[in-house]
Amino acid sequence: MISEPSIPRTIEWVGGLDGHVLLVEQTLLPVELVMLECHDTGTIWQAIKRLAVRGAPAIGIAGAMGVVLGLRDDAASDRASFLDKVKEVCDYLATSRPTAVNLFWALDRMRAFAASLDSDDVVEIKLGLLEEAKRIRDEDAAMCRAIGVAGEHLIEDGAGVLTHCNAGSLATAEYGTATAPMYAAHAAGRRFRVYADETRPLLQGARLTAWELSRAGIDVTVLCDNMAASLMRSGAVDLVLVGADRVAGNGDVANKIGTYGLAVLAQAHDIPFYVAIPYSTFDRDTVDGAAIPIEQRDESEVRGGFGRLISPEDVPCYNPAFDVTPAALVTGIITDRGLIQPVTADRLCGVLP
Ligand code: MRU
Repeated sequence: MISEPSIPRTIEWVGGLDGHVLLVEQTLLPVELVMLECHDTGTIWQAIKRLAVRGAPAIGIAGAMGVVLGLRDDAASDRASFLDKVKEVCDYLATSRPTAVNLFWALDRMRAFAASLDSDDVVEIKLGLLEEAKRIRDEDAAMCRAIGVAGEHLIEDGAGVLTHCNAGSLATAEYGTATAPMYAAHAAGRRFRVYADETRPLLQGARLTAWELSRAGIDVTVLCDNMAASLMRSGAVDLVLVGADRVAGNGDVANKIGTYGLAVLAQAHDIPFYVAIPYSTFDRDTVDGAAIPIEQRDESEVRGGFGRLISPEDVPCYNPAFDVTPAALVTGIITDRGLIQPVTADRLCGVLP
């Protein structure tokens, strides 16, 4: 059992092949809930880049749907030139953001699916691609539900759960990854408190996690990122539960900048540190965390937060979007295929495709 998030679907396809993508414009939350219509690939690329749609699984779904938008009006009438165009559109969308492996996973899946269709009818291939993109969305919702089932028991009655960034419904098709056990525990009638790190510089925790959990009736409290250590020391945190943008073959975890610090703090306070992912976030081909590309974002996000200048214009700002937490600091990885604990390369590769 899992309670339904009381927010619109993060992303969906509306209509047939001539339809469009509808997504929650996340940059405006929590002030305004606005839905963004995307009718072309460029708008999807921009939406991913500027974090209108964000969170690893949601980026993958947006990429898959963006492929359909980029191909549906293509004039190619023969299979070979159409497949060339599929590659071109996938390559373009792959330049939007580098860290979340779900984007590349979804684009590879769309490309392989087009090539696998035994048809010379380009319209038939286009329709097949639309169905595949919708399947990627629906499968993600099912995987998140399965993560909820696998991780629900970790949240006991009266627990305090610290999370970082937004690995919620807004970051996936539905239910989220780190939030799925929370939604499941809530539906089971357990009472617990979620502490949401605000997550500087773009405040996904304060703006998005606090918004979606409070709308679902889950007890949530926002804290500034630099308050996590004292909160842990106070005894309020029983576990840390976060999502990931990419888990390397050895179990190292790339997630929102600040996650690594939380893992170090959790170890210092003897608090379990869990990561929740669908299998599409596991990248067995990337041997360890050092090989994961980390997105560097514009300095203005740090300098110009909160709608005003908060640091002198002539002082450089450091702004990596993600960091890497070594596998040794991760207590367990909650997946749609069950809980992997302890985290070793053998166990990960044994459970996940
Ligand atoms: O830059 P963002 O907002 O896309 O970063 C998102 C995160 O770091 C999430 O924790 C991660 O993608 C997991 S989402 C289920």
